[in-house]
Amino acid sequence: MAPIRPFIALAAILPLVCGHFTFVRIKKDGKWNEPLQYIRNKTSPYDELEYYNSNFLYRFYNWPTYYIDRPESVRCGRGNMDHANATEVLTVNAGETIGIAYQRWEPYEWTDDMFYNCPDDRGTCHPKGYRQEVNHPGPLIVHLSKVPNGQDIHSYDGSGEWVKIHSLGLHDVASKDQPLNWILYNQNPAVLPFKIPTQTPAGQYLMRMDIIWSGMTDNYTKIGDSLGQMYPSCAQLNIVSGSKVAFPQGVKIPEIFSPEAPGMTTSWEMVNNMQLDDNYTYPGGPLWDGERLIVDEPVILS
Ligand SMILES: *[C@@H]1O[C@H](CO)[C@@H](O)[C@H](O)[C@H]1NC(C)=O
Ligand SMILES: *[C@@H]1O[C@H](CO)[C@@H](O)[C@H](O)[C@H]1NC(C)=O
Ligand SMILES: *[C@@H]1O[C@H](CO)[C@@H](O)[C@H](O)[C@H]1NC(C)=O
Ligand SMILES: *[C@@H]1O[C@H](CO)[C@@H](O)[C@H](O)[C@H]1NC(C)=O
Repeated sequence: MAPIRPFIALAAILPLVCGHFTFVRIKKDGKWNEPLQYIRNKTSPYDELEYYNSNFLYRFYNWPTYYIDRPESVRCGRGNMDHANATEVLTVNAGETIGIAYQRWEPYEWTDDMFYNCPDDRGTCHPKGYRQEVNHPGPLIVHLSKVPNGQDIHSYDGSGEWVKIHSLGLHDVASKDQPLNWILYNQNPAVLPFKIPTQTPAGQYLMRMDIIWSGMTDNYTKIGDSLGQMYPSCAQLNIVSGSKVAFPQGVKIPEIFSPEAPGMTTSWEMVNNMQLDDNYTYPGGPLWDGERLIVDEPVILS
């Protein structure tokens, strides 16, 4: 199987056409909201900090984010704080199921037929009516961060703790040495629904949505190959709840996405979807099921 990674180098030369993706849309009460409604926009192009390759100092909208980028970029997307004030807050009930959709085109290319009348009630599609693909193997992970007391969501930068409430990873891992079947990458489901845990206490929260393509432990030497790619964006939520349960202890971002953190760096074989690494866990820390924090790992059937 050919390695997939050389695509990174290509992306540097093809800035505008060769995008990746960003979560840009939320479905609630069976209805898709407008693109970017309730989701902090990002700044594009954007200048990241000191980097290993001058091509990567600037990034476009749907380009990856790396652990070594600005913490703000890793938390909620490049320049998101400059868009927070202009972003509406979505009221949801704890226990409610919502859905999300990603977009692979750059904002200047967006047309109505990428968002409306999509097949299978998708939230986004190809301009010609096809579905849009996730072009990276890896899990979808969704986190909540409660806005600290005394702060408002429009000025909260996500520097507090984050609790993972949803992940969508591998489908039916028959045994460790079988080819991997990522639900998003291999199956491209029409809807990506998940529940805001019923036990979530009331309050304002940032909801971070991301798909992570892990970096490689093995024989690649370029930094871009050994660092996982992230595609974060954040919605602003007001969660209505009668729960008296304490929101559990979370993880910090960017720390939980360092190359040493669980799920962020995997073998060459795993990156190329050939087999599952021993002890692999999905990145982003433990998963809160509303009652307990559980180790977020694939279930191996045999
Ligand atoms: C979001 O940001 C992009 C690029 O930074 C810009 O082109 C677009 O107009 C913005 N959209 C909204 C709704 O603000
Ligand atoms: C957002 O609005 C508040 C209140 O008007 C203001 O204090 C703050 O500086 C604004 N933040 C940004 C990033 O513009
Ligand atoms: C990397 O290592 C794997 C074995 O772990 C090998 O199959 C593959 O060809 C190597 N790739 C490169 C680019 O050297
Ligand atoms: C997986 O975890 C077990 C138990 O903690 C440990 O003994 C083993 O060495 C680990 N394997 C790898 C490849 O890290």
